[in-house]
Amino acid sequence: MQALERDSSHRRFDSPQALEAFGAQVAQALGAGEAVCLFGPLGAGKSTLARGLVRALTRPDQDVPSPTFTLMQTYQGPNFPLAHLDLYRLKRPEEAFEIGLDEALDVGAAVVEWSERLDGALPPDRLDVRLEIADDGGRIATLRGHGVWTGREHDLLRPARD
Ligand SMILES: Nc1ncnc2c1ncn2[C@@H]1O[C@H](COP(=O)(O)OP(=O)(O)O)[C@@H](O)[C@H]1O
Ligand SMILES: [Mg+2]
Repeated sequence: MQALERDSSHRRFDSPQALEAFGAQVAQALGAGEAVCLFGPLGAGKSTLARGLVRALTRPDQDVPSPTFTLMQTYQGPNFPLAHLDLYRLKRPEEAFEIGLDEALDVGAAVVEWSERLDGALPPDRLDVRLEIADDGGRIATLRGHGVWTGREHDLLRPARD
């Protein structure tokens, strides 16, 4: 990590469990019409975070397969549906709208892996989470809210208290 990146909102996760718990924390803050856009290379922890998020809104033992081939999997949350997308195979950003990201956000929320593929077509109301693998194997997340999420990322800088 470069020192100049340190002024944005970072969190460190030392285990998959910690990253999954963070997904649950994001789930509590997420509303209908809002997207969680995950960025980062293969193995960075996108699916781990998404699994924690989906399980927090469904059941703790919910099966959360990677939607690499179907591109989108929808779950019923307590208050609205949640779409889980993996855009690794997306060829053009417009394809995300063909598979139904817009419609999903009309009625519910979405968590999106490989958001890099959306290029300039990212949903306006969103939390961006950029995941990196630290030299010691931990994961560093850089958080940034946009649209209705502007500034709300700061609420996620500390673990949730229960
Ligand atoms: N904070 C963490 N520290 C160490 N390993 C992690 C952490 N988070 C996830 N992992 C592990 O990294 C591997 C890849 O995670 P995954 O969520 O599938 O990444 P991605 O979806 O970005 O490719 C998994 O074996 C997972 O358990
Ligand atoms: Mg994945």
